[in-house]
Amino acid sequence: MASLLVTGGAGFIGSNFVAHWTATHPNDRVTVLDLLTYAGNRANLDGQPAELVVGDIRDEALVSELIDSRQVDTIVHFAAESHVDRSILGPDAFIETNVLGTHALLKAARKAWVDGGKPHRFHHVSTDEVYGTLGPSDPAFREDTPYAPNSPYSASKAASDHLVRAYHHTYGLTTTTSNCSNNYGPFHFPEKLIPLFILNTLHGRSLPIYGDGMQVRDWLHVEDHCRGIAAVIQHGRPGETYNIGGGAELPNIRVIDTLCAEVDKLFAADSALAERFPDAPAASGKPSSSLKTFVTDRPGHDRRYAIDCHKATAELGYEPKHSFESGLAQTLRWYLDHEDWWRGILDGSYRQWVETNYGGRQTAAG
Ligand code: NAD
Ligand code: DAU
Repeated sequence: MASLLVTGGAGFIGSNFVAHWTATHPNDRVTVLDLLTYAGNRANLDGQPAELVVGDIRDEALVSELIDSRQVDTIVHFAAESHVDRSILGPDAFIETNVLGTHALLKAARKAWVDGGKPHRFHHVSTDEVYGTLGPSDPAFREDTPYAPNSPYSASKAASDHLVRAYHHTYGLTTTTSNCSNNYGPFHFPEKLIPLFILNTLHGRSLPIYGDGMQVRDWLHVEDHCRGIAAVIQHGRPGETYNIGGGAELPNIRVIDTLCAEVDKLFAADSALAERFPDAPAASGKPSSSLKTFVTDRPGHDRRYAIDCHKATAELGYEPKHSFESGLAQTLRWYLDHEDWWRGILDGSYRQWVETNYGGRQTAAG
């Protein structure tokens, strides 16, 4: 039986991971440490057999106390500021949480485990954005691709990756790191492209496409990501990093068109949706794509990400199971079936934040 400390476990990927791990390892103990920032949500853990401790990863004394009292032998580190646009508006929180927070965790883990001579694993969840941006015909990111982060977010994640590496190399902490591409799926906070555009479509609000919409991302269903992380934790070699991808490289415009077509299809098949969402164009037989609006590009916007996950496949047997089309349809269905979840977010402090920072630009909460 293992005892896991999952940081950021009340966020999007962390809560999906807790669901995955507790279903596949019912005898393990899972403690979530989460500050419940705007992105964290108690409701994401509803019904899950995990303890939620509300606290800050930067609080080294708290982390030490949790490792000790829960006899933690595995840390799975998701907690972060995760939104690129927010990092452009205000980088400080990204340095605080992603760099200093990761370092506080590493210090507590080293003290408890290396100094105490205990078997352990520190798994760090990172991003493909640390590798920078690709040209149209460049090969996909590999684990040995040089780091070239371009946004304050990716720079802070790169710094945290380097600290994890250093704690393995210098102090012998048993670490693994995974770098993955863009996740999507249930519980995705509606500031990111897919959930934002789902909710805007339902509300008849514009779909703000940055620049020409031809930026490419490699879409990874969150359940595939969680299976990949679990495989790294169980079988990954200490000190190694593993890329995890979804095998679904698509330009944003294709993602948006696919989503709009799926919404139109569901409304055409189910008249109850028009009653629930009368402002959606699809409610009156108009295409959802009529909401597409090209807006000023994100500063420093990375053009293309693509993941080469051959190492995870060869060493861990990892392969994504979801196709993008079926994963997106399942995700859309989840948002239609969980209106209470997203209404709780849109009616809360998120609306105020959007009004302050985006000055009237239409988003899910606008
Ligand atoms: P998220 O923003 O949905 O959740 C982050 C969670 O961390 C929230 O629950 C928040 O309350 C918590 N948190 C923030 N600061 C904290 C602090 N100081 N102490 C404790 N908890 C804190 O993020 P996500 O999309 O679930 O991403 C999880 C991890 O995966 C991040 O490290 C992110 O960089 C990485 N990642 C995400 C994606 C993606 O597509 N979402 C892709 C690659 C990597
Ligand atoms: O690649 C992994 C990264 O994916 C993670 O490390 C980040 O935590 C995660 O947020 C995500 O970053 P992106 O910036 O790629 O995701 P986002 O959903 O913000 O944007 C996806 C693409 O869509 C990107 O090219 C910007 C574009 N976009 C986004 C928004 C929110 C738009 O065109 N309009 C929008 O309103």
